[in-house]
Amino acid sequence: KNEILISPSLLSADFGNLKADLDKINASEADWLHIDIMDGVFVPNISFGFPVLKYVAELSKKPLDVHLMIVQPEKFIREVKDLGAMMMNVHFEACPHLHRVVQQIKEAGMKAGVTLNPATPVSMLADIIEEVDMVLLMSVNPGFGGQKFIPHTLKKVRELRELITATGSHALIEVDGGVNLQTAPSLIEAGADVLVAGNAVFKADDMIGTIHQLKNMK
Ligand code: DX5
Ligand code: ZN
Repeated sequence: KNEILISPSLLSADFGNLKADLDKINASEADWLHIDIMDGVFVPNISFGFPVLKYVAELSKKPLDVHLMIVQPEKFIREVKDLGAMMMNVHFEACPHLHRVVQQIKEAGMKAGVTLNPATPVSMLADIIEEVDMVLLMSVNPGFGGQKFIPHTLKKVRELRELITATGSHALIEVDGGVNLQTAPSLIEAGADVLVAGNAVFKADDMIGTIHQLKNMK
């Protein structure tokens, strides 16, 4: 099995001292930096916007894994690209013309990720799975860090792994929400490739050590 990628979620960082937290992420074994953008419409919370993220992008040495929890995410492809993002994740539930949005993200020179809320079945992706670079499975209802992992996600990871194998898709499987040292092993076992972790990393006494543990879990 391939190595597990770790994408710490900036939402749980200390916003009063962002640089100190980003220095630690840069010095760690983290593979990516996960960035949650919310609009108060698609989800019941607002996080941070592009003026703040410009400085985060300058400070981060890790590729940016941007998760847009907003309506009409296609309106911001240019802004996300200009941040220097590696991956742009849009919600299935926010995109009636998902195929077009995925093509536009790839044409802009980014990898395209599609995100599913906990109540959206994996089977909804059957006709797009070969076009996407990643599927992000939400293991909490999006909008807040520090929520409890929804165990049903494990079944979805296994179903998605089967769909990817059956179609020959190259899509990675990322899981986001309530991932920690306790929930990570079963996700890896089920077939996850990338783990997002907010509170588990940023609220840990030893951030760098926790990332090492998540990365080297078997
Ligand atoms: C939730 C966000 C997550 C969140 C994860 O809406 O998409 O990325 O920051 O935080 P934890 O790991 O604390 O559940
Ligand atoms: Zn996220």
